[in-house]
Amino acid sequence: MNMLETRIREQLDKLERTGMLRELQPPSGIDLSSNDYLGYASDMRLKLAMAKAIWTEGCGSTGSRLLRGERSRFSALERQFAEFKGTEAALYFSSGYLANLAVLSTFLDEGDVLFFDRLNHASLIDGMKLGRARKIIFPHANSEALRRLVTSIETSGQRFLVTESLFSMDGDPAPLREYADLCREAGIALIVDEAHAVGIYGTSGTGLIEASGIANDVFLSINSAGKALGVSGAFVAGPAWAIDYLIQRARTFIFSTAAPPPVADALRVAINLIAEEPDRRRKLLANACLLRELLRCRGLDIPLAESPIMPVILGENRRAVVVAEELQSRGFDVRAIRPPTVPDGTARLRISIKANLNEVTLYEFVQTLADSLERHQK
Ligand SMILES: Cc1ncc(COP(=O)(O)O)c(C=O)c1O
Repeated sequence: MNMLETRIREQLDKLERTGMLRELQPPSGIDLSSNDYLGYASDMRLKLAMAKAIWTEGCGSTGSRLLRGERSRFSALERQFAEFKGTEAALYFSSGYLANLAVLSTFLDEGDVLFFDRLNHASLIDGMKLGRARKIIFPHANSEALRRLVTSIETSGQRFLVTESLFSMDGDPAPLREYADLCREAGIALIVDEAHAVGIYGTSGTGLIEASGIANDVFLSINSAGKALGVSGAFVAGPAWAIDYLIQRARTFIFSTAAPPPVADALRVAINLIAEEPDRRRKLLANACLLRELLRCRGLDIPLAESPIMPVILGENRRAVVVAEELQSRGFDVRAIRPPTVPDGTARLRISIKANLNEVTLYEFVQTLADSLERHQK
């Protein structure tokens, strides 16, 4: 035990020395760091739906969906989401992390090949590790490099391409149309993680698959319900045969207690609101556009994409932490993102904009950030 404690303490000291030690810190100040892009997490209509359901259903589901944890409200929710997303079927998982593990560990077999964007989220990386396919990592969002790899790698098995649609730490979109063309030509199964796009993009707000017009070329999408939808969990959406298979085989679905049933009621309201309140999405993207312009005017290299996520890359871990702390002390809840969440040497502030922020706040924030960056130069 002593040996273990010594080893772990050394690791903790090393994290501290290199500016990588994390602390659990509850929200405080103006939200420029959460994924509650549309403000639904604290919406009264969602709260009421959940509270009413707690009253009739209780809190916990009491078991796996395959046992006594099943409820008709989960299947009703899944039908509603599938209709919203325009797919045959959907399956609700208690988190996006678990949904990604499920998809990549269930469908990828020996002899298959998986093409995988270098900057895909940790949950996709962990899913990839569980899958038995050969893994080919391609340069971030680079459809030309991907095409070259696809033509040079032979397999008699199935090929898969996995990408986020909007990248969570860089805020840039994947070239989905190019990917769809390639996947159609080469018979590759395209899997798209829409965690940061569902609820925001497309005429109906279903995500970047819709906005890119590639729905017919996607095998499965994974849609987190804990970000723009404001609640928690995630939907895997796709053909009925694939969803049926997940129910039989996905270990993170089968061997885990189902989500609290009242969550389904809140999510049903959230999905309706996405359809009924397109103005929120417009306001979100208008705010994002203004903030991006303000940051770029200060000389910050923010990607031009229409995206609510803006990385301010500072490089050094300590610099990112010090600037984030200073912003927090001035009332702006901005968090430092460090390796291994992002590649070494690219520690950053991940600024995520919200629909309910006003212009004055954005101007004040940018001034405060610029002052802080000046005080803490490289
Ligand atoms: C791209 C991406 N996929 C999946 C997830 C995991 O989703 P969840 O938070 O619902 O577990 C996240 C979470 O941050 C994410 O950013």
